[in-house]
Amino acid sequence: MTPSTVGSPQLPILLLIHLQAERISETALGDIRGGIDHIHTGRIALEELGIGFIPFSPLGKGFLTGKIDERTTFDSSDFRNIVPRFTPENRKANLALVDLLAGIAGRKRATPAQIALAWLLAQKPWIVPIPGTTKQHRLEENIGAAAIELTSDDLREIENAASQVTVHGARYPEQLEQLTGR
Ligand SMILES: NC(=O)c1ccc[n+]([C@@H]2O[C@H](COP(=O)([O-])OP(=O)(O)OC[C@H]3O[C@@H](n4cnc5c(N)ncnc54)[C@H](OP(=O)(O)O)[C@@H]3O)[C@@H](O)[C@H]2O)c1
Repeated sequence: MTPSTVGSPQLPILLLIHLQAERISETALGDIRGGIDHIHTGRIALEELGIGFIPFSPLGKGFLTGKIDERTTFDSSDFRNIVPRFTPENRKANLALVDLLAGIAGRKRATPAQIALAWLLAQKPWIVPIPGTTKQHRLEENIGAAAIELTSDDLREIENAASQVTVHGARYPEQLEQLTGR
């Protein structure tokens, strides 16, 4: 498919659905390389068709906020108990990514959660993270991300540093990953 056919009024609806299905994925710092690739490859289709993008789990299911480490325990009903990326060993290894966010957050007088969200907001105006929380004070903190301006130097620093961090553990258990069609 070429850029000129993507925006064509003749574009069959099934093709469009297929295209979108490919784009629906976790596009957050927790999967930064995949996220950036998806934004770049999906950009032409989404922009031409005027479709927005809501990144799945924009705070990496809470991990990118810096409030979770290898000692954190989750309620027995919490989905993260069966997510490979959330085993204590993998959480310990993945804290390198949170440290990166915390370093930038310190300079910006922000929180790691706000930097993770501000990074997404800085990508494209039609990329709209909707973080989940059950707590009003966190809702207010997360809304604060919209006021944080990341410069092109900040963005480069985040992406360069994050691309050197290896994320440990799969985002889903094997049987659930298969259901995503990836
Ligand atoms: N339809 C679906 O299939 C589907 C699947 C997954 C997610 N979602 C929805 O998508 C939304 C976001 O996804 P998500 O909840 O998976 O992931 P997320 O937004 O990446 O992370 C949410 C987690 O981060 C915590 N959190 C939020 N803000 C925080 C902050 N400032 N500091 C520390 N912790 C913070 C929340 O805990 P607290 O509640 O304790 O703050 C929650 O555990 C949610 O509304 C969710 O319901 C829908």
